[in-house]
Amino acid sequence: MQRTHIRETKDLIDVEVNLFGWVHNRRDHGKLIFLDLRDKTGVIQVVFTPDNEEIYKKAEKLRSEWVVNVKGRVQARPEKMINPELETGKVELSPLEVDILNEAATPPFALDTDGYEIGEENRMKYRYIDLRRQRMSKNMSVRHKIILFIRNWLDNRGFIEIETPILTKSTPEGARDYVVPSRMYPGKFFALPQSPQQYKQLLMVGGVEKYFQIARCFRDEDTRGDRQPEFTQLDLEMSFADRENLININEELLIDIVEKICPEKKIQEIPFPRLSFKEAMEKYGTDRPDLRNDKNDPNLLAFCWIIDFPFFEKDEESGRYTFTHNPFSAPKPEYMSDLLDKKNIDDILTSQYDVVLNGSEIGGGSLRNHRPEALESVFEIMGFEKNAIRDNFGHMLEALGLGAPPHGGIAWGLDRLITLLNNEPNIREVIAFPKTGDARDLMMESPSEISPKQLRELKLKLEK
Ligand code: AMO
Repeated sequence: MQRTHIRETKDLIDVEVNLFGWVHNRRDHGKLIFLDLRDKTGVIQVVFTPDNEEIYKKAEKLRSEWVVNVKGRVQARPEKMINPELETGKVELSPLEVDILNEAATPPFALDTDGYEIGEENRMKYRYIDLRRQRMSKNMSVRHKIILFIRNWLDNRGFIEIETPILTKSTPEGARDYVVPSRMYPGKFFALPQSPQQYKQLLMVGGVEKYFQIARCFRDEDTRGDRQPEFTQLDLEMSFADRENLININEELLIDIVEKICPEKKIQEIPFPRLSFKEAMEKYGTDRPDLRNDKNDPNLLAFCWIIDFPFFEKDEESGRYTFTHNPFSAPKPEYMSDLLDKKNIDDILTSQYDVVLNGSEIGGGSLRNHRPEALESVFEIMGFEKNAIRDNFGHMLEALGLGAPPHGGIAWGLDRLITLLNNEPNIREVIAFPKTGDARDLMMESPSEISPKQLRELKLKLEK
């Protein structure tokens, strides 16, 4: 007999069905046993009466989270027993056969709540159980739907998804790198990508023209509510496009996602308002202002673009210039000659655009320097010696000198966007297996030690 998913039972009154799932809970009321059976689509009430002795005895044994197969007949509930809270609340199952597929130890926490009340340590250690929770199951499914929608939407507009390497090179891009020792080249290391920034630009040199990737990024920085050591970007790059093209395509995609996947949400203002960095700082004291005019409305989305950031800022301690966003960014066209001449450095504005949603930075990008002399100038302003520039970024300068088209792009923090669209308080709620606040995986118990043999192979010695 074919399997029926629990949600479908609401339309199958008087039909015999074959259900598989977990015991959500069991309640004994006098002689009756009520069992809530759960699969990924929903929950249905199964009612056991003593007249069928064999399965009644089985039902007495069942405990939370046991895995069962129940065959039975769907029945309409009596009027006063209807549960309007439940999608299947108008029906219940009269069981004909019960098969126990697996028993389960007492689960570490309850699954019939939203789970916010449970300590995070516990939820992370038993994440596979936590994922059975209805709220988590919905979060995973909305995440999937958004990513699928993005892929199709970009495909329709001629973008292609290309994977870029995870084992790459350590370069100063902003955050601290996660590094991987090389066995074949002792003393040398790969770095995990902080973003696919350089590869996506090299794809533009490679003539790809329209690239995107749902890309995993790694940054060894302090974890916070909206930061994970390992997170996912929608990464995108386009040739022969100006800032207007890039802002528009991203804005259109964001609006379509909200309208198609989260129709209950309302966007406060379209087109998204644009603020210069200076304006945002003067008016709101932050470059990621929360522009919602009603902060109590959970379904209100206030997007905005922040533009015209200063390109460089001076490090107070060293007195040296550093980039505010991305060393590969181009200045706004009117500042290109100052960049090349290394003049009026404090006044140079970058082509950078950040997209902010309800006070959270959900993405950022820029047009890039596609001529080698402009990129070289950026590094010179930052005080890099010619040799250091060649060592760290020689490959980029060489590529830009081999017919690089003008190009630009963006990366969205997908976890952050999905968090806001699901009204969740932090990004760990929308990542299947996130790290804890202190950057550990409590379920796998990583990071962990490696064996002396592995260390020997890598020619690594640990300091005592
Ligand atoms: P940036 O470093 O601004 O730009 O990253 C883009 C977006 O990624 C999100 N983000 C994070 N999300 C979760 N955890 C983190 N640790 C984390 N760090 C960043 C933010 C951010 O806006 N290569 C450039 C993009 C480009 O210029 O095309 C880049 O990575 O939402």
